[in-house]
Order: sequence, then structure tokens, then C-alpha cells
Amino acid sequence: MSSTLSLFAMSAPINGIAVPHAIGRSFRPDARIVLYTGDVLAYLRTIPDETVRLIVSSPPYNLGKEYESRVSIGAYLRSQLPVLEELNRVLRSDGSICWQVGNFVEAGEVFPLDIYYYPMFKELGLQLRNRVVWGFGHGLHASRRFSGRYETLLWFSKTDNYLFNLDPVRVPAKYPGKRHYKGPKVGQPSGNPLGKNPSDVWEVMREEWECGYWDIPNVKSNHPEKTEHPCQFPVELVERCVLSMTEADDWVLDPYAGVGTTIIAAIRHGRRGMGSEQDAQYVALAEERIGQAINGTLRIRKLGTPVHEPTGREKVSQVPETWKKPNEKLTLFDTENGV
Ligand SMILES: C[S@@+](CC[C@H](N)C(=O)[O-])C[C@H]1O[C@@H](n2cnc3c(N)ncnc32)[C@H](O)[C@@H]1O
Repeated sequence: MSSTLSLFAMSAPINGIAVPHAIGRSFRPDARIVLYTGDVLAYLRTIPDETVRLIVSSPPYNLGKEYESRVSIGAYLRSQLPVLEELNRVLRSDGSICWQVGNFVEAGEVFPLDIYYYPMFKELGLQLRNRVVWGFGHGLHASRRFSGRYETLLWFSKTDNYLFNLDPVRVPAKYPGKRHYKGPKVGQPSGNPLGKNPSDVWEVMREEWECGYWDIPNVKSNHPEKTEHPCQFPVELVERCVLSMTEADDWVLDPYAGVGTTIIAAIRHGRRGMGSEQDAQYVALAEERIGQAINGTLRIRKLGTPVHEPTGREKVSQVPETWKKPNEKLTLFDTENGV
């Protein structure tokens, strides 16, 4: 854990968890953590121009979750425009926005929100660097279309002068011992010994047991980070953005802070974290989690932790005998008819 975390004094415990005095309720340039309770626009208007190095957020998707009232897609996007304008204003000219969205679905028709957000960010002059596909292997099963198994993260920079540090987020190469077999570099490692670029497909799993090849689990009920929030980020996902797009002491902002995942990812790496959240219960959970992150008790999947691979021997990996049809067997050849 970063030594910056030990700088904060703790207050008396809330629900048994110490909350840092250092969480500011409103923006102060000398603060390290700010968590504002209230509307996003009211908070953003208090932040000076060009303050923030990175914005990572998952806005309300207009899905009718408990924290949003469902409106038409047009009305939803119109309500987001002033927020995007304010975000652009507070973003430093060498800063980035990572905007994570899924689909809006109406009467069975799918509206991929990134397609709608893209021209809105372009209109503000931002430049797309990656459209990251964040895939997961589990979720609701659709019956009239293929089941949706990914969301996207649009990474925009404000200008061409943006930061991208690849080394802190490299992932293990498939063949780290591979060497050049000819030419002037013969015998030398052919890849980077620190690992490879994680690519723009970030595979995710929703349940630890469900599949072996995903590298960032989505936050669902049996995940160590799960709170009462219906759709929180895994800390690991935000850490990848924080480590590659910011430097120590930079401000990282989540305008829709939820239970504080972005702030946690920021402060774990010596950055400053701030956010606004309208729901006081989520703010309280965020404060608890920030306190836990500071005192080292927050349960977090470590960046790059290998995912558990099922062996096939687990009960859930096997079809129970009682579910099999009697005499069910795989017949490759029809021996009776001689084929
Ligand atoms: C998709 S969730 C974000 C979850 C967050 N990424 C996390 O890891 O906890 C969106 C959040 O935005 C909040 N929200 C929605 N409209 C808001 C508004 N106008 N101002 C502030 N917060 C708002 C909701 O209460 C909800 O917690």
C-alpha cells in the first residue's frame, strides 16, 4: 500500500470502521480526498478549470436502477450534456476521461450508449484513444437475442498531449521466455521482460468460479469487494486507468462516485481522489471503504491476480447424473445400418 495512506488521521469508528478526518465534504485545492453528497452539477461547478488529470466514471445508464428514474434516451442524453461540458472544463489539458457504459434497452431494442456518447465527447473536442471492450462471461440470459456479455470504456484525452504509462499496467506475456531466433538481436528476449500491453479487450468474470481466462472479475455477490451498490466497479479496473494515465498527487475524479471505487483506486496509488454522489447511503459506504483502504482492511482483488481456474471436478462443473436422460450416450456411428 502507498505510504501516502498513512498520512491520514482517523476519527472515531463508524460501524466499527475508522473514517479518515481527511475526507473533505467540498472541494479544496489542498485536500487529498473529497466526497461531496449531492448533485453532480452542483459539485462540478465548485471545481476550478483544468484541475483534474483523470475522470473515471460509470454514469447512470437510464436503466431504472434504484438511483435513477427512467426517461427516453433523448432526454437522458440531453441531461448528460451539461455534465460532460463541466467535466471537460475541469479536466487538465493533458488529462483523460474514461467513460464506462453498457446498453440502454427499450421494448427489446438495444441502444449501445457508447455510440451515443462518442459524438457528444467529439463535439467537446476530445480525442478517442481506446474503446476498451470490458467482457464478462455471465449475466442475464437473453431469449430473443444473444446474451449481452460486454460493456465498453471510452478513453478520451483532452488534447494530443496526454499521459500513457504502459509499464505499470503490463500483464504477463504468454511466452515470456521467447527469444529472437535470427537477425542482430538473435538470442535476446523478443518481448518486454515487464510483460505485454493488456490490449483493448479487458476480460472480466462475474463469479470467481465461472471461467478461467478472465483477468478482472466484475463485482458481483461472491466477489470480495461487493457492497450493497447494484453496479459498482472492481477496484482493479480503475487501477489500470489510474496507473497508466496519472502521476503521483494528480486529482482523479468520479462524478458518479457510488461507493467510492474510483477514489479508492486513486488513493491506493498516491493520487488524490474526489467524487460526487447523490445517495447519502452510498456516500456512507464509500467513507467506510475509503477508511478501510487507508487502514489496510479493505478486501480488494490485487491488480493482476490470476483467476481461479475450474478443474472440471467441482460439482458445478459437472452435469448431475439425475439430469441426464436414460441411456444417453454419444453415438458417432450407426452400427446397425453399417455407417
Ligand atoms: C453506475 S453507478 C456508479 C458506481 C461506481 N462506479 C462505484 O463503483 O461504486 C452511478 C451512481 O451515480 C449516482 N448518481 C446518479 N445521478 C446522480 C446525480 N445527478 N448526481 C450525483 N450522483 C448521481 C447514483 O446514485 C449511483 O450511485
